[in-house]
Amino acid sequence: MYTQAMDIPDPAQPAPATPDLADPAQLARFEAVLSGGGRIEAQDWMPAAYRKTLLRQISQHAHSEIVGMLPEGNWISRAPSLKRKAILIAKVQDEGGHGLYLYGAAETLGARRADLIDALLAGRAKYSSIFNYPTLGWADVGVIGWLVDGAAIMNQIPLCRCSYGPYARAMIRICKEESFHQRQGYEALLVMMRGTGAQRRMVQDAVDRWWWKCLAMFGPPDADSEHGAQSMRWGIKRMGNDELRQKFIDATVPQAQILGVTLPDPQLKWNDERGHYDHGPIDWEEFRSTLAGDGPCNRERIATRAEAHENGRWVREAALAHARKQQQRAQGAGT
Ligand SMILES: [Fe+2]
Ligand SMILES: [Fe+2]
Repeated sequence: MYTQAMDIPDPAQPAPATPDLADPAQLARFEAVLSGGGRIEAQDWMPAAYRKTLLRQISQHAHSEIVGMLPEGNWISRAPSLKRKAILIAKVQDEGGHGLYLYGAAETLGARRADLIDALLAGRAKYSSIFNYPTLGWADVGVIGWLVDGAAIMNQIPLCRCSYGPYARAMIRICKEESFHQRQGYEALLVMMRGTGAQRRMVQDAVDRWWWKCLAMFGPPDADSEHGAQSMRWGIKRMGNDELRQKFIDATVPQAQILGVTLPDPQLKWNDERGHYDHGPIDWEEFRSTLAGDGPCNRERIATRAEAHENGRWVREAALAHARKQQQRAQGAGT
């Protein structure tokens, strides 16, 4: 799960300026590929600022997938049935796989995976603000699938057409899996809404807590989005934050009606003239402070990842020792 809100300013990596003009012939070829709707591949020349923007976005996306395993992972041991447990394990494993594809895509741009992970664990890298909120009950797992993965799909489908080939191809597989995530969440909620009054109240409570945070996932309004316009010109982003947010709201309101839950926005109303739902104001201050590290679970999430990384140290060392031994044997056989 992921949103393009991840392309956010990072003080460790200053904002890229315009494409470098050092080599007009290479730049012209790059621009021609973009304007022809083609793909830039890892071995192709690309402006340094394009590479930097992609690296920032893909690595933040990878971190989001890996940290995104934690809020739901907390519920694997407490799932209400064997069926729900099996589904949840599959979903959380998928998110880990998404992280791996994306760290792989970042490596095609020249990054070292170990450096990216170090930056995350040291608190220098950003990841999606949505994962810094707690999952208080089982209904939260369903609501995350329905709304958080639902928002992620809305964001990620246009990324399948991203101008950078390795990123676009990773997104095709990821989107297929995100679709399963969204459906399993919605189905789990449908079952709860057909259950007892207490179950229905749990679902409504979870929707009340997650709705506004999901709208913020699409990132600040385009007018305030630092990298948005340049990323659109480069074909990294294909749609603006506001357009995607509106598409998500328009698709979700009828789903909420079928489910029988109320979305917590008194200003949410169909606008005949616009042909879209109007909605109330989003609390950007909360979004910014969570992104800056002051959300309810930021420290806990990073501490959990750091512990898991440390616990896996012996596996990495054993794998490297095995690879070295294999290499030595191959060299020995060759002499
Ligand atoms: Fe997902
Ligand atoms: Fe994912």
